[in-house]
Amino acid sequence: MPKTVVLVYSGGLDTSVCIPMMREDYGFERVVTVTVDVGLPPEELKQAEEKARLLGTEHYTIDAKREFVENYIFPAIKANGDYQGYPLSTAIARPLIALKAVEVAQRIGADAFCHGCTGKGNDQFRIEFVMRTFMPDTPIIAPMREKTLTRSWEIEYAQRKGIPIGQSKEKIWSIDENLWGRSIEGGRLEEPDFPPPEEIYQWTVDPRKAPDTPAEITLEFENGVPVALNGTRMPGLELIQEVHKIAGANGVGRIDIMEDRMIGLKVRENYECPAAKVIIPAHQALEALVCTKEERAFKALVDQKWGELAYAGLWYDPFKEDLEAFINNIQPRVTGKVHLRLFKGSCAVIGRSSPYALYSEDLASFDSKTFDQSEAVGIVKTHGMQARMWHLIRRNQG
Ligand code: ARG
Repeated sequence: MPKTVVLVYSGGLDTSVCIPMMREDYGFERVVTVTVDVGLPPEELKQAEEKARLLGTEHYTIDAKREFVENYIFPAIKANGDYQGYPLSTAIARPLIALKAVEVAQRIGADAFCHGCTGKGNDQFRIEFVMRTFMPDTPIIAPMREKTLTRSWEIEYAQRKGIPIGQSKEKIWSIDENLWGRSIEGGRLEEPDFPPPEEIYQWTVDPRKAPDTPAEITLEFENGVPVALNGTRMPGLELIQEVHKIAGANGVGRIDIMEDRMIGLKVRENYECPAAKVIIPAHQALEALVCTKEERAFKALVDQKWGELAYAGLWYDPFKEDLEAFINNIQPRVTGKVHLRLFKGSCAVIGRSSPYALYSEDLASFDSKTFDQSEAVGIVKTHGMQARMWHLIRRNQG
């Protein structure tokens, strides 16, 4: 049996450099590349396939788009998935990418894994956790982390080994893209005070150049997930892509934040997540209508913990299952319609309705007589009783 390594392959410089390295420096005879499509730009997917062919690997492209939507994005929507203002787009894709690599490795009987993560980022945690969970005895090689290779060394090495380099397009920005969002890092963006240049954005127009009339849309949810846009039912994948278009055209979805990475580094991050910036506020608006006061307060804590676990890539942590038991128990009620207005970079909820609304116009209205207001008198009298007692004691003690 030839010694076999499964490489999580993006087609970029880092992971391409890994191919000859696996053969020459690590002694693997069979290099198997796996590219997982979670909504990659089609050119990138093609480029990965071509490079793999050129470099003579056994290559697998795996279309995991629908699985990504149903098993990763949908749970993120139910949990209002967020970490420090980041809708977790890259974070939730990593466990799925790793899982697909594991499936290939199990099928072909691999001796090792290889990935291109550096030692500074979060992805090494996310990917290796999944690999170790399912194949605990299979070694994981991370050349970028082991050798701390510089970009210029890699380019020179790639030229020596006949790896095509996407011209100067091995560019200033390090971009990660999937169905839930784009992340743009590197270059001068690393300076927290440097305003993001227009060229980093691909899905959103400059809010200042967005249309002068707002776009109004209606999202319909069932069991906590969006099922229809403007009255048309569609699968999650298509719905997300449609929302991307409308939100992007109105400049909605640009995010510029400071982020605390797992290793402790504080970094500046830029994201473009138009659909997340519309769907999650809509989902929250519906929860606000159907959940009790205590459920809302507690769910905010549960969501926050879910976001931390998802950020850390602990996709198979039992604590995540515990949190999801609570989250999922609420979701059947998160069914109804939300109207939103998108305008020059902002997204506002302008209406919501649900058969499960814990709201009675009859009770709440200023005009209604159903609620006997005289009954409030006694309740108001006992309000703050202990606090008032404490003030009395303090006054008497002079
Ligand atoms: N900081 C984000 C995360 O850890 C995004 C990383 C994306 N990578 C990139 N090369 N742009 O989830």
